[in-house]
Amino acid sequence: MRENPFSLQGRTALVTGASSGLGRHFASVLSKAGANVVLAARRLDRLQSLAAQIEAEGGKALAVTLDVTDPASVKTAFDAAGALGPVTILVNNAGVPSGSFFTKTSEEEWRAVLAVNLDGVFRVGQEAARRMVANGAGGSIINIASILGFGVSKTLSAYAASKAAVVSLTKSMALELARDKIRVMPWRRVTSPPRSTTHSWPARPASACWPACRCGGRARWRNWMGRCCCWRRTPAAS
Ligand SMILES: NC(=O)c1ccc[n+]([C@@H]2O[C@H](COP(=O)([O-])OP(=O)(O)OC[C@H]3O[C@@H](n4cnc5c(N)ncnc54)[C@H](OP(=O)(O)O)[C@@H]3O)[C@@H](O)[C@H]2O)c1
Repeated sequence: MRENPFSLQGRTALVTGASSGLGRHFASVLSKAGANVVLAARRLDRLQSLAAQIEAEGGKALAVTLDVTDPASVKTAFDAAGALGPVTILVNNAGVPSGSFFTKTSEEEWRAVLAVNLDGVFRVGQEAARRMVANGAGGSIINIASILGFGVSKTLSAYAASKAAVVSLTKSMALELARDKIRVMPWRRVTSPPRSTTHSWPARPASACWPACRCGGRARWRNWMGRCCCWRRTPAAS
């Protein structure tokens, strides 16, 4: 029988920032495609409840504490993830927004945003890539960027700078890791979501939102993104 090129059966995926928003959604979609999912973030209680939900639906999930700003925490999380098999899919999703005009951005805010959005992607991506290279079976790494990695918006200078750097880092990773059969891809949406979609992007006045109708509203947007993110890891995307 022909193998289903869209199946992730038997693969293990680690999703950072799986305790809310897009990460939670990506983890569910990956599980529905057959992957064992390692749910990683700082809020373990939220991860455990998602893991229970996935297991109740017939999937395999493991909740692990991970702080992407802490190198020791990253290593410990990957060691624990091994219980579900070697991680061959990484979704580098953990991220935080900025919220100040450029002249009002403090050193602390700047560093905090870069520490998660850029340093975290580097750190978790490097740990995953080293293990994938050692394992020899290849893999896929998706770095969650943003439309703001390609453009700008007021009060988001730190965020936009971090995401632009993620896009650049992704290209370097892709270039160097291709020889080890590791695909590295950025992820972004070509139109913007309804701004009330997730925790990081609280509701804003309608005048500050991009029109949700461009992407069909909140539910349709999330489903579309999840499928896209999932498809990029399947053999069909090779
Ligand atoms: N929502 C959008 O409109 C949109 C659009 C384009 C791109 N994105 C990107 O998509 C990703 C997810 O965004 P979201 O909107 O879903 O945000 P969210 O709901 O706030 O989720 C952010 C996640 O990141 C995790 N996180 C934050 N700091 C962390 C740290 N130090 N270590 C580990 N995990 C950490 C949080 O988990 P804990 O607090 O439990 O650690 C949380 O699960 C981000 O990279 C964001 O930039 C979002």
